[in-house]
Amino acid sequence: MSASLATVSYIGATILFILSLGGLSNPETSRRGNVLGMIGMALAVIATVFGPQVTWAGVPWIVIAMAVGGSVGLYAARTVQMTQMPELVALMHSLVGLAACLVGFASYIDTAHTFVGAEKTIHDVEIYIGILIGAVTFSGSLIAFGKLSAKIGGKPLLLPGRHLLNLAGLLVVIWVCKGFLNAESVGGGFFALIIMTLIALAFGVHMVMAIGGADMPVVVSMLNSYSGWAAAATGFMLNNDLLIVTGALVGSSGAILSYIMCRAMNRNFISVIAGGFGTGGGTVAAPADGQPAGEVIPVSATETAELLKESKSVIIVPGYGMAVAQAQHTVYEITKHLREKGVTVRFGIHPVAGRMPGHMNVLLAEAKVPYDIVMEMDEINDDFPETDVAMVIGANDIVNPAAQEDPNSPIAGMPVLEVWKAKTSIVMKRSMASGYAGVDNPLFYKENNRMLFGDAKKMLDEVLTALKA
Ligand code: TAP
Repeated sequence: MSASLATVSYIGATILFILSLGGLSNPETSRRGNVLGMIGMALAVIATVFGPQVTWAGVPWIVIAMAVGGSVGLYAARTVQMTQMPELVALMHSLVGLAACLVGFASYIDTAHTFVGAEKTIHDVEIYIGILIGAVTFSGSLIAFGKLSAKIGGKPLLLPGRHLLNLAGLLVVIWVCKGFLNAESVGGGFFALIIMTLIALAFGVHMVMAIGGADMPVVVSMLNSYSGWAAAATGFMLNNDLLIVTGALVGSSGAILSYIMCRAMNRNFISVIAGGFGTGGGTVAAPADGQPAGEVIPVSATETAELLKESKSVIIVPGYGMAVAQAQHTVYEITKHLREKGVTVRFGIHPVAGRMPGHMNVLLAEAKVPYDIVMEMDEINDDFPETDVAMVIGANDIVNPAAQEDPNSPIAGMPVLEVWKAKTSIVMKRSMASGYAGVDNPLFYKENNRMLFGDAKKMLDEVLTALKA
């Protein structure tokens, strides 16, 4: 393939990626967005493999690498549970970081291209920054994977003088960079690169370990952004325009997503990165003085069905528990049944419900819930006072009134769905355990709240049977 044909293909792939991102911004066009992204990626791979930068001798290696990588990817995509998606995404981000590091080291010791003067300095700076971003992304994403899969506790690790530690690390990285650029031998430069990589790896671990509970969504999207910049840096090292553009697209869209997440959590980006918010998830909620926080009123599935039958308007608030229980199909069966009986049913989606951006929307779309009854938090929050029943399915942090009522709560200031303002709220979960942020939820003890204890899928099946009886 000639260089100009490869360039035209790259431009075509870039346009397809941009159209893909546009399509993914709306559930109704997201399938088309995905297809456009896949076509763009196929075009990009073909143009690269058969482009001027690859010799025929390299093609078998690429084919072998693609067969191995493709098989692993296919296997992971087919076997992963929906609830494990966020961990898988974090793991994939770590691979982008690792690739950037490996390409950086390979470019440095590659003797096929020799650079002199200013060109050499620019090339070396590209390598240094590429490895730096890649190493932070790699280790940070691995820790995020551990935290999202509950292999590492959600409690933030707050080392004494942690900001000073980070600052010292940054200063050493800058100082080592000077030594790297002035290195007289490849060996000397290589040593400097290793020192910087170790500091960057430690920084990635430290940064994500210091972030707790409910701030994880911001970190996930931030690492997504880092992985984009790592890919862009790889593009600079390999002199590949498409990788630079694609990396910049991922990097900037990840940065915008981080900003949106911060706004959704009412948090300042810097304070999230500085860390220290939230405690371990999944603990049994208990107030500070050790006394029970109040009485809860349990209900049965039959009583829940009665409450639903008698209501005119219902808002369903799904959370992580609905994903765990895979209850979305039964939720839609109940929705259909109630709508047929003339009840207005809508869904209220919190921006950080579940464990990844858009988690609930994906599940509801899979169950074929019509998009026009799925509302964002801001669109529906004022409607709770006119709602008969707010049904909370496996959600906890996103409906916690402490965010508004208790200025000392770790989640104070985070916008939440105000389900307690409905005539009756029903919370469906298995126990009194807290959610991801590990904080007690006063909603459970409110007079107009009922608790339906049990696995969401099992309880909803019982509610559906009772509704149909
Ligand atoms: P959570 O606050 O984590 O609450 C989920 C609740 O579901 C738990 O309290 C759990 O209680 C219940 N549950 C678990 N399995 C269940 C099952 N099989 N049946 C019924 N209930 C079940 O979830 P949320 O309200 O969706 O809030 C999301 C949280 O995750 C926020 O703190 C957010 O910051 C964080 N987070 C979000 C993301 C993104 S990007 N969305 C990423 C990382 C972290 P039981 O154990 O008592 O059943």
